[in-house]
Amino acid sequence: MDNRFERAKERIENIIAQLKEVGWNFESGWSNFEGNFPNSIGEASGASRQVFWDYDNEDFVLKVGLGPEDAKYCEKEETVYHAAKEQGLEKYFGWTAYICTVDNMDIYAMEFLDCDECRVSDDSYQYHYHVYCDENGLDPDSDYAREQWDDLLDSDWTICMDDSDAVTEWFLDGLLWQERDELAEFLSDWKINDLHAANVGYRGNMPVFADYAGWGW
Ligand SMILES: Nc1ncnc2c1ncn2[C@@H]1O[C@H](COP(=O)(O)OP(=O)(O)OP(=O)(O)O)[C@@H](O)[C@H]1O
Ligand SMILES: [Mg+2]
Repeated sequence: MDNRFERAKERIENIIAQLKEVGWNFESGWSNFEGNFPNSIGEASGASRQVFWDYDNEDFVLKVGLGPEDAKYCEKEETVYHAAKEQGLEKYFGWTAYICTVDNMDIYAMEFLDCDECRVSDDSYQYHYHVYCDENGLDPDSDYAREQWDDLLDSDWTICMDDSDAVTEWFLDGLLWQERDELAEFLSDWKINDLHAANVGYRGNMPVFADYAGWGW
């Protein structure tokens, strides 16, 4: 049995016990919760998942669908993780595994990642700014380049450094060409099309996908 699984299982069960103690029900979620989470528990959510972790042991998060119809997103991540492993691409994905079922909801563990949306956004911004300067023969340190870039962003509000296309491009361009092509093909094959800034985290200084379920498949 994978060592990480055993460690995650223990930690996640401990978080679940703390959440049950304050009256959290995984199936009804926010709609039926009037308690307060313990100070030691962190929580974040997106459009389809609720995520919890223990501030004292930031090694795993607990991930669960916001409603029964959202369970498929966690399940897909586990499938994708195994597929990535077969191709030797797993280092780009937060490790994940099914842990248990509570209140009819399947609970998954995922490696804790530093999900700092501002950091991703800033890294993506810097990358795209430098590409823009290269393409236009501009000195990135000059005021003129910055003015041109600001004018471009002002005149076209559809350009966004946080969206899936911009973030994916930044992420892939940081890789060596062979792995970049392999990973790009993998993302397309598995319809991982939702890699906006809030879906990427960091393992140390390395960007890693934290939400790779994709959307609308
Ligand atoms: N492995 C992780 N480590 C730390 N925080 C995480 C992790 N996975 C997710 N999070 C946090 O929880 C939030 C919600 O998780 P996630 O993005 O997986 O849910 P989602 O509902 O599928 O999101 P979306 O709205 O993008 O579809 C993330 O934006 C991130 O802030
Ligand atoms: Mg997300």
